[in-house]
Amino acid sequence: MSSKLNIQEILKERARLVDRHIEKYLPRRFREDSLLFKMNPPRHKLDYEALNRTIADPLWEFLDRGGKRWRPALFLVVLEALGRDPAEFLDFTVIPEVIHNGTLMADDVEDSSEFRRGKPCTYKLFGVDVAVNLSDVMYFLPMLVLNEKGAKIPSEKARRLYEIYVQEMTNLSFGQATDIAWHRGITPADGVSEEQYLQMCAYKTGTLARMAAKMAAVLADAEEETVDKLGRFAESVGVAFQIRDDILDLVGEEFAKSKGGLGMDITEGKLSLMVIHTLQKAKPSDKEELKRILAMHTSEEELRKKAIGIIDRYGSIEYARSFASKMVQESWDEVDRILSSSDAKEILRMLADFLIKREI
Ligand code: IPE
Ligand code: IPE
Ligand code: MG
Repeated sequence: MSSKLNIQEILKERARLVDRHIEKYLPRRFREDSLLFKMNPPRHKLDYEALNRTIADPLWEFLDRGGKRWRPALFLVVLEALGRDPAEFLDFTVIPEVIHNGTLMADDVEDSSEFRRGKPCTYKLFGVDVAVNLSDVMYFLPMLVLNEKGAKIPSEKARRLYEIYVQEMTNLSFGQATDIAWHRGITPADGVSEEQYLQMCAYKTGTLARMAAKMAAVLADAEEETVDKLGRFAESVGVAFQIRDDILDLVGEEFAKSKGGLGMDITEGKLSLMVIHTLQKAKPSDKEELKRILAMHTSEEELRKKAIGIIDRYGSIEYARSFASKMVQESWDEVDRILSSSDAKEILRMLADFLIKREI
């Protein structure tokens, strides 16, 4: 078995466990005896059917489409690499995975996307009101895991988990805000530097990976320095993952099928690492042409292809590929020094590798 196959098998197996735990807190049907209402009973009479139609149905329709579930896998493997039994912490996997799905639902509204995981976006199927409200629920509800498990978590540890959560959720929104400003053209495309791009990505995509790794390390009673180092590693993996995602949007035929075709990021007007690199390297006519196409927010296939052609001509796809791989390698070196050898450490390395080499 190749290591790639192994990691995909591990992800699949863990995904089933994660989904079972999500269902504990967010059941497919809300009822009077759902755990949620035992933890937080309503005072008057609750309209369960309303909640089923606007929360449970769209949520499970979205979760059942699949998804890699790599953030909870990262959470579990960090715990394991720090010598803990991940089986004891499965409830906490709900936090990064449900929040992540909430970000996708909100992001599709923000980006005016058509498809997600091969199907029309939630806001297209259920309405913007349902999708926006549900994404809010998905940001907050997962932290109720701490109330359920709270009795067993010492208050100082719970405080640290809340602190990480609030910090990272703020960062995430700042990342999205920056991305939105860029695709709207509020910041001129050629005014964005690579450093600014990296910060946007660290906020937008690095945050949830960092949240997962830091929460795992806190739960494992790791020293503050270890918590920070694992957090930084996870953030870098998140950034490299985003770079890979943006590469696949331009050249990953199979990948792009689930989102409506190649170059949806061109339609969005997204400033990816590749676009920034091209805008720095291209001759004035190509630069102007790329800027013009991005500003059009066009879904015309010919124009999308033309933009991809310009990006490719300046070696920007290759540049981004090696950038992502170097980023993961450098951040791994740091983690390599603090973790002792174990199967979990090996899986952590394989997971990082898979995330930057994946075709899906
Ligand atoms: C997609 O994330 C959004 C980005 C951060 C690029 P994933 O690729 O992890 O989404 P799913 O959960 O597997 O669909
Ligand atoms: C997804 O980001 C949302 C977050 C990372 C919070 P993107 O907009 O870059 O990803 P896709 O292309 O929609 O999957
Ligand atoms: Mg998007």
